[in-house]
Amino acid sequence: MEIFLKDVQDGLNASPKYLQSKYFYDKKGDELFQQIMHSEDYYLTRCELEIFQQQSGKLAEFFKSKLGDFDVWELGAGDATKSSYLLKALKDQDVDFIYYPVDISANIIEWLQQNLPGKLPGLKLHGMQGEYLAMLNQSKTQSAKPKLVLFLGSNVGNIPLGETGAFLSSIRNCLNVHDILMIGMDLKKNPHIIRRAYNDRDGITSHFNLNLLERINRELGGDFCLDKFHHYPSYDPISGTCKSFLVSLEKQQVSIGAEKFDFEKNECIQTEVSQKYSVSQTSSLAKLSGFEPIGHFFDSRNYFLEAVWECV
Ligand SMILES: C[S@@+](CC[C@H](N)C(=O)[O-])C[C@H]1O[C@@H](n2cnc3c(N)ncnc32)[C@H](O)[C@@H]1O
Repeated sequence: MEIFLKDVQDGLNASPKYLQSKYFYDKKGDELFQQIMHSEDYYLTRCELEIFQQQSGKLAEFFKSKLGDFDVWELGAGDATKSSYLLKALKDQDVDFIYYPVDISANIIEWLQQNLPGKLPGLKLHGMQGEYLAMLNQSKTQSAKPKLVLFLGSNVGNIPLGETGAFLSSIRNCLNVHDILMIGMDLKKNPHIIRRAYNDRDGITSHFNLNLLERINRELGGDFCLDKFHHYPSYDPISGTCKSFLVSLEKQQVSIGAEKFDFEKNECIQTEVSQKYSVSQTSSLAKLSGFEPIGHFFDSRNYFLEAVWECV
């Protein structure tokens, strides 16, 4: 709560203003994100799901041949809809593993602990609630087995491109040589398709974005008036960077606890970055951060890539 307040104050005192996207995911944000994943315009989930539904057997065989006996860590697991297919395929192929889902949302970790073992009988699950790197740092004390780390949903794209190499190197530093990272990355494609995914026709993304202000009101005693802000998504097809903003519809002042923040009319708060990549860009990122790409798994339209990287 104190860190949340400090991060919000830092972001709203900055110029331009920003809020960190990890704070989208409270209970309501988790529910809204699940609706986004099922919405017609958000192609990312369907593409990645198709890879897991159709290629999990092949993936499990590949990981087994590379790693032998290993544990599975998933960064930002969410409701594990996609990874469940792989976990089942690993069980079917008699891999003896513990599944460690990492998520900042306490709500989602509780949900996984209550629901996943029922869906995948015999699954050994150890929930890790907290930040990606803080939790993965604990992996060496949890087990000495080789690790398969999943980082799906193009979550990596939420890290600004200039910081991605350093973030991936930090993941690499938590792992041992030959451990594997499988990373889901959204690929560059027709810009209309991308922009639509972040501006769905049912307005769920808009609601999701505005929920961040609602969360600040609820948890930090803010007085944001939600009708005075609008969701605005942008996509630059050259850089491949998609951004979401909240636009202040009028000159206004907002209080959060004892602090006051002024907004000009049309001033924007940046709330999310979602980077899109070319395949060669993903391989450069791997090499830059201490990995070697050893496998590429695409959906049938080549919209989305599961890149498999080995620690070198
Ligand atoms: C976009 S959802 C994707 C969920 C799942 N990986 C999928 O592909 O369906 C992002 C998930 O990552 C979690 N998350 C976001 N930032 C995080 C952080 N810094 N550390 C740990 N978890 C985080 C959120 O709570 C949420 O469950």
